[in-house]
Amino acid sequence: MGTVQEQRETPANAALQSGLTPRKILVTGGAGYIGSHTVHMLLAQGHDVTVVDNLSKGHRHNVPAERLHELNLSDTAALVRLMREKQCEAVIHFAAFIAVGESMREPARYFINNVSGSLSLLDAMVQAEVKHIVFSSTAAVYGNPHTTPILEDFPIQAVNPYGESKVMVETLLGWFDPIHHLTSVCLRYFNASGCDPDSLLGEEHEPETHLIPLLLRAVQTGNPVTVFGDDYPTPDGTCIRDYIHVNDLAQAHILAVEYLIGGGTSEKFNVGTGTGHSVMETIRAVETVTGQKVPYVVGTRREGDPPSLVASSNKLRERLGWSPRYADLRTIVEHAWKFASRK
Ligand SMILES: NC(=O)c1ccc[n+]([C@@H]2O[C@H](COP(=O)([O-])OP(=O)(O)OC[C@H]3O[C@@H](n4cnc5c(N)ncnc54)[C@H](O)[C@@H]3O)[C@@H](O)[C@H]2O)c1
Repeated sequence: MGTVQEQRETPANAALQSGLTPRKILVTGGAGYIGSHTVHMLLAQGHDVTVVDNLSKGHRHNVPAERLHELNLSDTAALVRLMREKQCEAVIHFAAFIAVGESMREPARYFINNVSGSLSLLDAMVQAEVKHIVFSSTAAVYGNPHTTPILEDFPIQAVNPYGESKVMVETLLGWFDPIHHLTSVCLRYFNASGCDPDSLLGEEHEPETHLIPLLLRAVQTGNPVTVFGDDYPTPDGTCIRDYIHVNDLAQAHILAVEYLIGGGTSEKFNVGTGTGHSVMETIRAVETVTGQKVPYVVGTRREGDPPSLVASSNKLRERLGWSPRYADLRTIVEHAWKFASRK
């Protein structure tokens, strides 16, 4: 059996047949959760994709072997060679460490990997004359916003090194545009979730820190999951988050690449559905989908967890014509459950 992508890759002329121009795109972190879904969608649309991933967190089985280049972002010279050889037109940059709690314990690892790694990539892009980048930013750049829905012009005030590392890369991009004419789209995602219903791709973080896979794991193992606080100022006392389907995120990246290649100026966009769901609502959705009770215990609040994080994605909808296909929580959970129960 080949990889997920090999089984489903469409002919290279698929993009032409559908009226799209095939693009040569470098994807960093393409063996990870969101990256692999985006690579899958790009290949299905007929684009020519080169993946860079050091497999520190991602999975070899997520990417066709001939697409994968096992490289660290820090290897500037190798990135230059690869981008020149593949004649890349744009980069989609997912590669980063992503765990907020770990970043509070080991900030240096986060700043080195996420900031120095991105700087090495930007340096390589300048040398190889690649002019466009779509960057995985995060709702964490807003810290603890006082109101929702969150707009792109809300104050930037990260409250942990992970979020700060993303703020720093956004700042770097702000300098590379006027100096090197390198245009960027920063996509500030809210809670990526679900998986592609038609492939074998899914969420396989280790350790897993995201709510939906943890709830599904609790159902499967019987080991209770901890709900961090039920005394927040929300209707049921638990935190509210905006769950965005990973395929809708992938689509936003492809639209952003087209926007930049088409001459669009540097921008920052939120990516969420605009609807928030509490932890308890998410537990109920998992119980409905699985037909089983979710074992859970209520613990204390986690430091730095804002009560509610919900995006306004109006700017992305209006400017890039994006709209989520799988906006309801139940569908997201159904897709995640299909993956979790595949064995
Ligand atoms: N998952 C979410 O809910 C979420 C929310 C907001 C933002 N993001 C951002 O989206 C991006 C992707 O997240 P994900 O959930 O897919 O994470 P992931 O851990 O599944 O994927 C990240 C990938 O990057 C690779 N990588 C890390 N450092 C590297 C380096 N120095 N060189 C080469 N490869 C490297 C890893 O091996 C992994 O395959 C990250 O930048 C993350 O900060 C994720």
